[in-house]
Amino acid sequence: MSKFLSKLALSLDPYVPGEQPKDKKYVKLNTNENPYPPSQMVQDAIASATSDLRLYPDPDATAVREAIAKYYNDALALQGDAVIDSDNVFIGNGSDEVLAFVFPTFFKGKKIAFADITYSFYPVYCALFEIPYQLIPLTEDFSYDMDAYTGAGDDIGGILLCNPNAPTGRALSLAEVETILDANRDKLVLVDEAYVDFGGETAVALVNRYDNLLVCQTLSKSRQLAGMRVGAAIACKEVIAGLNAVKNSFNSYTADRLGIAAAKAAFEDVAYFDETRNKIMATRERTVKALEAMGFDVIPSKANFVFAKPSGMPAAELFKKLRDDGILVRYFNKPRIDDRLRITIGTDEEMDAMLASARKILGK
Ligand SMILES: Cc1ncc(COP(=O)(O)O)c(C=O)c1O
Repeated sequence: MSKFLSKLALSLDPYVPGEQPKDKKYVKLNTNENPYPPSQMVQDAIASATSDLRLYPDPDATAVREAIAKYYNDALALQGDAVIDSDNVFIGNGSDEVLAFVFPTFFKGKKIAFADITYSFYPVYCALFEIPYQLIPLTEDFSYDMDAYTGAGDDIGGILLCNPNAPTGRALSLAEVETILDANRDKLVLVDEAYVDFGGETAVALVNRYDNLLVCQTLSKSRQLAGMRVGAAIACKEVIAGLNAVKNSFNSYTADRLGIAAAKAAFEDVAYFDETRNKIMATRERTVKALEAMGFDVIPSKANFVFAKPSGMPAAELFKKLRDDGILVRYFNKPRIDDRLRITIGTDEEMDAMLASARKILGK
């Protein structure tokens, strides 16, 4: 440990991403990546963007912001005041970076609230930016406790909702999100929609009605671009302007030329996006049935993963045995969830391999 580390650096307990193993080839169901390749349109866009790499990219990533606005105006049939444009959109280097901009921009100097079981990066950002937080326990069945969110005290200055939640997969309806927004007009509500395209309801249609709403999305899951690192915030123009001020005080070029080209094409190729997310949702439903037939307790999921409790063997042991058998899933050694595995939805073939291995290990 270097003696030059600041007190802050010494105090950090960093986020641990799911492993990207190099020892052998696994059926990789541990980091919620998409099993399908980026669309041909995306691959072509990346190839043609390489010719301009000597030039800095557009610091505002305008082409992506316009593509995202157009996608949502069409997909949600937004009308009148609900219509969004590029000034409602902010681009970051992955949604983790978007979150890293949101924390100091809106939460510094306040206390924020989020669920006890949710994306484990949130408390890490709180530590880095020295923002105190209050955990709101999920209910027994891992739902959000609506009363706690609508009755959040005056000492709470911001709220984080991961919707659908990770690692549970459970989703709030749009009406529930709106109820929480209504009850917290004086608090910024960050809705992390990393997994929303797998059956959840996006809150994007509400950004011009609620100046306290900030939606965060990623191209890493439903748009096959985890390796590219592009994420977005969608909010009213004043909120986006605040993010830009902080971004331009830190790193003007959050997205590179390849990322901008890829992300624009990913939002434009709606047919491929719909085809692949529909396949993943169908595979998820099949997988849930097969896991339940094996005695697993599976939380209803609107994400590209399921959170399942095995019967007949502790989750930690099943995790190790699956790993030995070449199947990589995610295990969290944390209170309330150490009896479950989070299993990413891959292709049908990958899920069949996982199910066959689990059957063999559990003797079912
Ligand atoms: C809930 C949630 N938010 C944000 C992210 C970050 O995604 P990325 O930085 O790849 O956009 C993840 C990644 O796993 C996630 O699960």
